Parts: sequence; C-alpha cells; structure tokens
Amino acid sequence: IKTQVGIIGAGPAGLTLAHWLKKEGISSVIIEHRSQEYVQARVRAGLLEQNTVDIFKNLGLADRLVREGQEHHGVYLNFDGKRIRVPFGKLTNGRNITIYGQQEVVKDLTEAWVNTGETLLFEAPALELEGIDSQSPKIHFEHEGEKGIIECDFIAACDGFHGLGRKSMPKDSYKEYTVTYPFSWLGILANVAPSSEELIYAYHERGFALHSLRSEKVSRLYIQVDNDDHVDNWTDEQIWEELSIRLGTEGWELKSGPIFEKSITPMRSYFIDNMQHGRLFLAGDAAHIVPPTGGKGLNLAVADVKHLVDGFTDFYKNNSMKSLDDYSKTALKRIWRAQDFSNFMTTLFHKQAEHGSFQYQLQKAKFEYISLSEAYATTIAENYVGLPFETFE
Ligand code: FAD
Ligand code: DHB
Repeated sequence: IKTQVGIIGAGPAGLTLAHWLKKEGISSVIIEHRSQEYVQARVRAGLLEQNTVDIFKNLGLADRLVREGQEHHGVYLNFDGKRIRVPFGKLTNGRNITIYGQQEVVKDLTEAWVNTGETLLFEAPALELEGIDSQSPKIHFEHEGEKGIIECDFIAACDGFHGLGRKSMPKDSYKEYTVTYPFSWLGILANVAPSSEELIYAYHERGFALHSLRSEKVSRLYIQVDNDDHVDNWTDEQIWEELSIRLGTEGWELKSGPIFEKSITPMRSYFIDNMQHGRLFLAGDAAHIVPPTGGKGLNLAVADVKHLVDGFTDFYKNNSMKSLDDYSKTALKRIWRAQDFSNFMTTLFHKQAEHGSFQYQLQKAKFEYISLSEAYATTIAENYVGLPFETFE
C-alpha cells in the first residue's frame, strides 16, 4: 500500500489525524491491531474540551455529538461533604466542556472514514517500522494471515501506550518521566438517570469519588480503590453505598440503578520529551499518559494531532520541515500544562495520607481557596475547559 502518511492505531488520535489530513488534501491509511467491535466497545473517557468539540465540528464529524452530547457550563467540587460550583461561563469567556463517550467518538469517526471509501484495516497489527531515518519509511504489518507493507512519506504512531511507535524510537533520543500513584479507579456505567446535571469531583476521608454521566439514562461513576483491589471484591450494593457516602452533601441524594460495566484503571503520569525521530511522529497516549482526574487524556491526543496536521500541511504545501521539526516542542507546551493540571486535580481530591494529616490540610486549604478566590477558581476553570491553541503558539 502506498500513501503519504501511514497511521498506526484507530483510536481518537489516529482517526482524527486521518480525517483532518484528508481535509487538507493529504492521503493516509490506518491500520488497527484490534477488531472494530473491540475498539468500539472499549469504555474510556467522556469529557471533551471546547477545542476538541470545535475540531470535530470543523471536520464535519460532530452531527451526533451535537445532538447527543451534553454541554456543561460548570462543575461541582466536594470536600468533606461541602459542595461548591465552579462556573465556566464568566471565568473562561464562555468556553465549556461536553460529555460524550470516547467510544461514541470512535464510532462516529470510524463510520465517517469508512464511508469516504478510504482504507482502515482492523485486526492489522503493525509489526515493525523500517527506514524511519530515510525519506521513505515503511510499516510492516499483518492482516488476515498475510504480511503487508505500507510505503509512505511519514509514519504517525497513534498506537497508544503499549504501541510499537514509542518502542521504535532510539532509546537515547528521549528522556522518560514516570509517576505511578498508590491508588486506582473503579469505574462503573449504570442504567440510572444522573443524580446531578453537572460532574462532581469529591474528596472524602474514605477516598476520591467522581459522578459523571453519559446520557439522560446512563450514569458514569468512579471511586478510588487500592492498586491491588479487584472488581470481584465489590458487590453492586457496596459500590453504590460507597459512592453515596463519598459524594454526599446536605440535601442531595444519589440515585442507584443496575450496573452494566465495571473496571479498574491504574493511574500514572508518563511522558517522553521528544515525540519525533526522523520520519516517525508519535501522538496521543503513544507519547504521554495523564491520570484521568480532569479528563485530559483524549483531549491531549486530539491537540497533538492539531500540531501534526499543521506540520504535514506545511510540508506538503510549502515543502518545509520547519513545523514538523518543531512538533515536539509545540505539543509539549500543552502536555506539560496538562500533566500539571491532571496531577493537581489528582492530588487535590484523592486520599493520599491520613485524614487530618499535613497533606490533608494542604488539600483542604486549596479547596477553601477555590471557594474564596475568583482568581484561583479561574485557573481551575480555564485548565479544565482547555486553554485555547493560541495560548501556546
Ligand atoms: P488509544 O485510544 O489507546 O488508541 C490507540 C490504538 O492503537 C488502539 O486502538 C490500539 O489497539 C492500537 N494499536 C496499538 N498497537 C498497535 C499496533 N502495533 N498496530 C496497530 N494498532 C495498534 N482519559 C480520560 O480523560 N478520562 C478517563 O476516564 C479515561 N479513562 C481511561 C481508561 C482506560 C482503561 C484507558 C486505557 C485510558 C483512559 N483514558 C481516560 C485515557 C484516554 O482514553 C486516552 O488518552 C485516549 O484513548 C488516547 O487516544 P489515543 O488515540 O492516543 O490512544
Ligand atoms: C469522565 C472521566 C474523567 O476522568 C473525568 O475527569 C471526567 C469525566 C467520564 O468518564 O465521564
């Protein structure tokens, strides 16, 4: 197969890249390790920043997102049972977030791509990258028992944390940063109307909890658990009981209902300080992981793609490698910001040390300050809805 950009991975990063390149008149082919059913059933994030929604709208991919997604104009924060609201409108010049499941994004983008007649091979793992230092790199892959090769000008590795892209970068071409956290999230989806029209992030002496949603009939909730915990240790009743205690505040009640999805996700901060080697470019989880508190993962993946498209467009229209060579530097400005914000939200709302300890008092002091200071609330609101691209360019 010959194309201009060979894309590995049909997650949010790979699919957005393919569509955007097509809009700019640049050809691409996507190969995806897993089956279509597997990728579309994978339950993950649900929070889309304003930038991300705007990009999907500009690409003509947001019909269902606009119809079914829910725009939120604020967020609730709980600490020891006290609840405050951070409104976005006034603090962010009208920017918002939208709740719409990642697997719905992936469904929409996959369907739209297949409808254009362009190539997307499922169950087609990339096996080896060749010639990334040359001007005609190749992706060796497998599909339906046969070996294949994509010959391209550039390789975009949008293949997630465990993908081949990062492993193919020379070890001495980047520095790696990792933080693992001593807790995980038990996440559920349940057939019950959300008990709150906006999200609630909560610190409680029993640990963190988050109330989110997917639709008028489906709620998405999370609780902090130990890293060695297992979903089988939790009955549905115990999960609801725990959520109800941790999210509780006076005059508010959590509605419960049948749980149809349960899983545990570990938390880590990870990134590398160089996302390009020769003609190989990394985007999304392939290059960085943030802990999920604050919902930045998917949005960062889409932001990387924006910078990559700028680079490829500059190359094909102006025959210049300048923007592509600046890709890491440009993307990393937002990545550092998101790393800081995700770490901040994680450490603010999770139980890390004994309730009442010095660490706890610092968390409490920050929470009190958010409720007292518009300046402090503003920094949270603007990071949460996502800073405009102009901020970093
Ligand atoms: P991915 O979505 O991981 O897509 C990469 C794709 O590449 C995958 O489909 C994979 O199968 C494919 N691939 C890998 N290797 C190969 C290969 N060799 N050949 C071909 N294809 C390959 N973020 C939040 O903001 N909030 C959350 O609550 C949240 N929950 C999460 C829960 C889990 C369990 C995980 C794993 C992530 C979660 N995230 C969350 C993060 C968010 O989902 C990711 O940041 C987002 O998926 C990144 O998109 P991506 O396209 O970079 O990577
Ligand atoms: C969701 C996940 C997050 O990590 C977050 O911060 C907000 C919402 C969600 O799955 O809806």
